[in-house]
Amino acid sequence: MDAKDIRSKVEEMIGFLISSAQTANIYGRDHNLTKDAIDRLYSMLRDSLSDREEITIGIIGDEIAFEKKPFYRISKNIEKFILRLKKMKIEKISFLKNIEKRELAFFIDILAGSARLHEKENDVEKALEANMVKNILIGTIGLSREAENAGSGISAQVQTGASFQEGMDFLTQTLDDIGNNRPMDIRAARLVVGKILGSLLKNIDPLLILTSLKKHDEYTFVHSLNVAIFTLVQAEALGLPEELLADIGVAALLHDIGKLSVEADIIKKNGKLDKEEIDKMRSHPIDGAEILLETPDMPLLAAISTFEHHMKYDTQGYPARLYGDKLNLASMMIAIADAYDAMRSKRSYHEAFAAERVYEEMMESSGKSFHPDLLDIFFKRIGIYPPGTLVELDNNAIGLVIKESVVDIKRPRVEILYNSKGVEEKDTYIIDLLEKDASGRKYKWTITKSIPISDKHNIPAKYKT
Ligand SMILES: [Fe+2]
Ligand SMILES: [Fe+2]
Repeated sequence: MDAKDIRSKVEEMIGFLISSAQTANIYGRDHNLTKDAIDRLYSMLRDSLSDREEITIGIIGDEIAFEKKPFYRISKNIEKFILRLKKMKIEKISFLKNIEKRELAFFIDILAGSARLHEKENDVEKALEANMVKNILIGTIGLSREAENAGSGISAQVQTGASFQEGMDFLTQTLDDIGNNRPMDIRAARLVVGKILGSLLKNIDPLLILTSLKKHDEYTFVHSLNVAIFTLVQAEALGLPEELLADIGVAALLHDIGKLSVEADIIKKNGKLDKEEIDKMRSHPIDGAEILLETPDMPLLAAISTFEHHMKYDTQGYPARLYGDKLNLASMMIAIADAYDAMRSKRSYHEAFAAERVYEEMMESSGKSFHPDLLDIFFKRIGIYPPGTLVELDNNAIGLVIKESVVDIKRPRVEILYNSKGVEEKDTYIIDLLEKDASGRKYKWTITKSIPISDKHNIPAKYKT
């Protein structure tokens, strides 16, 4: 089926989707007219899916679209339907190849408004899951800034926690697939990155808090997710177009995929590596690029930046040559995110560095290992003490950084957890380190040092979702 063919098929299918929902709404799910409508829609879908893995339709602005191109003509006539999807928080519907008729019927029932949705939140995703619908995926496109401030607070943290978990699941699955010679699911990678981006654009802080609080036991997974987050923080701060953000996110998420071919005992080794082990370790960018080049639909950018992520700004790193004629921007951003996450995490061969030490050491390598402007942008965006850092103040109180400051990277907002006598606060409260005393000349509080997160201090559960 050529591109034009499939487009007109999908256009027709959308028409049937809507009329099936209307029929179900009027006559109910068990009426013959409804069943007929679903039968017709189902055979159309099967036909369109005969030579592809999925069909995804989405809403862009006020238009319904397929493969990012809107159908202007039909969109005009189905405004109500588009509005209804938006209300149900559906911006995207994917029908997967193995769709069953029962799944389609349930989904139509939801669109018709007759299926009982999850209690409080009108949650279609949960309803699909509860009814074992696996071949229809719905979601938000996740790149809109509309809800910029709406997502603050705990609900944003819960959402963010869920995207993080999905990222972990995706990476586990991917490693499994590659290990078993199955192709990597690039669509799933995009979905994960889309969700991370969605959280990031709504409210960056819960994601940053999660990167510091998540335990580092499954190291490469958590590291890969953190690197994706820290890379996207930079890309977003640069104002790169959303289209590119998604590719950069996928690239960052998979940058260490080549470590699959390094034996676990070398990766986890406590002492010094011998020459052979170092060589093996150093081949992971090349091995990773190879895997990505063999993966269908993988953006070339992912292979390039995986190849180059240990190259360093002055190109004195490894492998010994560049992929193209100059270092790719994504490679340089990933290198910053990679070093940052490695330094502040506890590894078998070093303790976690304090936040201020990570900042100092990285600034020392500015212009050598790291692009100086990118590095400045990065720290401006997350601060020296990023959200999620535990800090001690000059009055001996201890708190958790919850929001970076755009005015002064040393003066974030802090939630006080222990008072100056070391007693745990029952009602924690937030202070702004930019606040000055009555004279207006002296800051009220200043961070003296960061403290490693450990069992010694209780972090409120709301931050650990
Ligand atoms: Fe690496
Ligand atoms: Fe890495």
